[in-house]
Amino acid sequence: MDKKKTMFSGIQPSGELTLGSYIGAIKNWVSMIEDYDAYYCIVDLHAITVRQEPAALRRRILEQLAQYIACGLDPEKVTLFIQSHVSAHAELAWVLNCYTMFGELSRMTQFKDKSASHADNINGGLFTYPSLMAADILLYQADLVPVGEDQKQHVELCRDIAIRFNNAHGETFKVPEAFIPKVGARIMSLSEPTNKMSKSDKDPSGSVHLLEKPEDIMRKFKRAITDSDTSADCVRFSPSEKPGVSNLIQIYSCASGKSISDIENEFAGRGYGDLKMTVGNAVVETLRPIREETERLLKDKAYLEEVYKMGAKKAEYAAGKTLGKVYRKLGFVSR
Ligand code: TRP
Repeated sequence: MDKKKTMFSGIQPSGELTLGSYIGAIKNWVSMIEDYDAYYCIVDLHAITVRQEPAALRRRILEQLAQYIACGLDPEKVTLFIQSHVSAHAELAWVLNCYTMFGELSRMTQFKDKSASHADNINGGLFTYPSLMAADILLYQADLVPVGEDQKQHVELCRDIAIRFNNAHGETFKVPEAFIPKVGARIMSLSEPTNKMSKSDKDPSGSVHLLEKPEDIMRKFKRAITDSDTSADCVRFSPSEKPGVSNLIQIYSCASGKSISDIENEFAGRGYGDLKMTVGNAVVETLRPIREETERLLKDKAYLEEVYKMGAKKAEYAAGKTLGKVYRKLGFVSR
């Protein structure tokens, strides 16, 4: 049997996971479990590049782990772990910082965006964020990195860093590929449908959280932005002309498994009120089992602890091999 390819991805515990995180990321991860040797990380070291409230951060890390499991990431089949539990991440990040150029880091769009939105705290970690992300990926010799479109630039920089290191020291790192899912990769905000639905959005009406109550979810869908079209075919998929409506169609398609054209047919001659109710209900039913299972898991702290400890052990073993190789190549004296 061929060796399975390795996959690595992570989400920052910097906000509540949203419907966008589920459809755009976790649902795809779940569908790939059987075919890959997969590592899914809760990247808490990345989260502190912007200020976090410690108690809220601790709560969200455990919540995120419970949500990963509730969404179908079986801890017996994939490695689920917390980034700060495996010290090799911080160690390799330092090494890679020395192989990443100031100019490269300056060109990262996320750095430019975050510097603008956190102008009072443009710290070194925010700037070198991509070298830590490269360390995450390269430690596991990952072949594939499933990410959203917004992270593609970071994966590209990670490839450049890996190639640069390999050229200097001989084959050390696998050069990874970004994997950007076609379906559901861009679930947009309900209140500003030209922006991505984001867990760090300040406007709560735009995003639906995985743990949100059904009545709150319905309220957000009822208020979702559409447009003023009243024609018989107003429910039509066209992201450039009808961003709000297309986003609702996309969400409904992901929640129900129906194709976009089937949905357009289903809503021929019907209006936006109907569409919003139908999509809202479909989302409530999709999220219900996830919320219930997450709540159940959060009551079982001993189990969650067992999962993250087992994950850290597996991750540490794989990461340690790569870090040892890197230190040897650099000329460090082994301890
Ligand atoms: N930077 C990613 C984001 O904000 C999160 C992340 C950190 C990540 N390390 C990673 C994603 C490694 C993929 C692989 O979405």
